[in-house]
Amino acid sequence: MSKEIVVSGIRSTGYLHLGNYFGAMKNYVKMQEDYDCYFFVADYHSLTTHPDPKDLKANVFRVVAENIASGLDPEKVALYAQSDIPEIPELYLLMNMLAYKGELEKVPTFKDKVRTQPDNVNAGLLTYPVLMAADVLIHKAVKVPVGKDQEQHVEMARNFANRFNHRYGDLFPEPQPFNFGSELVKVPSLDGTGKMSKSENGNATLYLADDDDLIRKKVMKAKTDSGPTEPNSEMPDYVQNIFQLMHLVSKPGTVDTYRGMYNDCTIRYGDMKKQLAEDMVAFIAPIRQKAIDLQNDEDGLRKILKAGAEKARESASKTITEARKLIGINYY
Ligand code: TRP
Repeated sequence: MSKEIVVSGIRSTGYLHLGNYFGAMKNYVKMQEDYDCYFFVADYHSLTTHPDPKDLKANVFRVVAENIASGLDPEKVALYAQSDIPEIPELYLLMNMLAYKGELEKVPTFKDKVRTQPDNVNAGLLTYPVLMAADVLIHKAVKVPVGKDQEQHVEMARNFANRFNHRYGDLFPEPQPFNFGSELVKVPSLDGTGKMSKSENGNATLYLADDDDLIRKKVMKAKTDSGPTEPNSEMPDYVQNIFQLMHLVSKPGTVDTYRGMYNDCTIRYGDMKKQLAEDMVAFIAPIRQKAIDLQNDEDGLRKILKAGAEKARESASKTITEARKLIGINYY
């Protein structure tokens, strides 16, 4: 039986952090066993915010290295750069004829950008969802692992797919956003507010590239208080967060021990954070080191991207040929 097709794009801006690891990368790693996976670095999408040309390659290589270091296996999935697949912009152009200015202007992520970068509201930003639809539809994907903030984009891809099918004939299945539901873990930030994220306070976010001392420093700064005074009292959010982080990287026994000490009011947060810091270092250090080793082997990374592009183009060229034919642009 042929496996279901999965496509997901990885942003090439910024460094990957623990939130990305548990929220996205772990999902990818799990999916590579059971699905036909296409994972790519969305470097064209990153151009909407005009990155410095001299940073682009290092960003792409770093993201690829960090994903492989986290467990993605380029033998099992097609791992490629979006810009290596010319069929994607071709399908994007075709899809632009079916996407309406009005609907694109209403997309919340577009409206956000209009607010945050009013002097660069380019057409690429407006048609960002169309390019994303092309990314997905070029492989006829049915499952698209994304975070909540991207679900509407997948819904638009579904609309464009249906519009195409309706006008020109059945070609695309309907892509659906996908996650592992309850297993999708939230990774709280270290300052007690919200989740770890790229855009928020960098000191409250642990990056896969952070060195051991920086990890320790950030963990030791996590917000706590003078400790519970009543047995079995309710945990404040920021303490729950520390337990949650411990739950992700420490042994179950360790978490239980500290939970017991919390409940009988003997807990010392300084000790708990020291333990968490060491467990965090033990968790992140091997991933960081593997990512560094991969980045130092540029030839190796180039080979991986080339092989990924070949796999992806095989599937993409079939789809684009079919699309052109249905539209009527097959003259010879
Ligand atoms: N827009 C996605 C993000 O910001 C990245 C992305 C680009 C993507 N193309 C995609 C995700 C296709 C899934 C499928 O995270």
